[in-house]
Amino acid sequence: MKIKFAFLAFTTFYFLSCSKDTVTDTDKMIFNQTKSTDGFVWFKNSMSNWRKSSGTGHSAAFLRTRYNAIAAKQLDANGKVKPDALFENGSLIVKEFYSSASSTEIDFYAIMYHNDQDPLTPEHGWLWAYYNTDGSARYSVTNKGGNCHSCHSQQGIVDHTLMNKYFP
Ligand code: HEC
Repeated sequence: MKIKFAFLAFTTFYFLSCSKDTVTDTDKMIFNQTKSTDGFVWFKNSMSNWRKSSGTGHSAAFLRTRYNAIAAKQLDANGKVKPDALFENGSLIVKEFYSSASSTEIDFYAIMYHNDQDPLTPEHGWLWAYYNTDGSARYSVTNKGGNCHSCHSQQGIVDHTLMNKYFP
């Protein structure tokens, strides 16, 4: 099982690091909200670069995670996701990736955007994407999160999010 998981993670990286997708209007709309930190709340109220967890499927070594105002309604006073959180439409969770602990330059973004009305959205209500800082898509919402579900549907998720599980 572990080997299968590692293989899956590897193929996911490989695929994501080599591909570039067409940017759709939905990607543009989400990227426009992603690139500014205005109105966002940081996970555990911390703006530090954190070393990635053991369970991650994301290639960069360090990360920061933030929630837009709608998503932040599901955070508690310590900036952790409430255990029974259900994110509303319009919720945007942005993970910024950094190559080192001291880096202030973002390598790229991973996002989850909640919209259960979008025809591209899988049943669980989230759109998934990876964006470069220039707005090009490493992984467009049109892929319907096919490379993301394997991990983001595991035991211990809160509405498909994993920060609480790996950074308790
Ligand atoms: C191999 C497992 C794995 C895969 C595949 C994966 N993720 Fe993640 N993801 C994680 C883990 C673990 C975390 C939290 C801890 C960390 O990043 O170290 C996380 C966190 C996130 C977060 C921060 C919100 C949260 O709490 O979950 C976003 C956004 C995210 N991933 C987006 C994506 C997208 C988009 C894809 C697919 C393109 C994807 N992930 C594929 C394991 C994975």
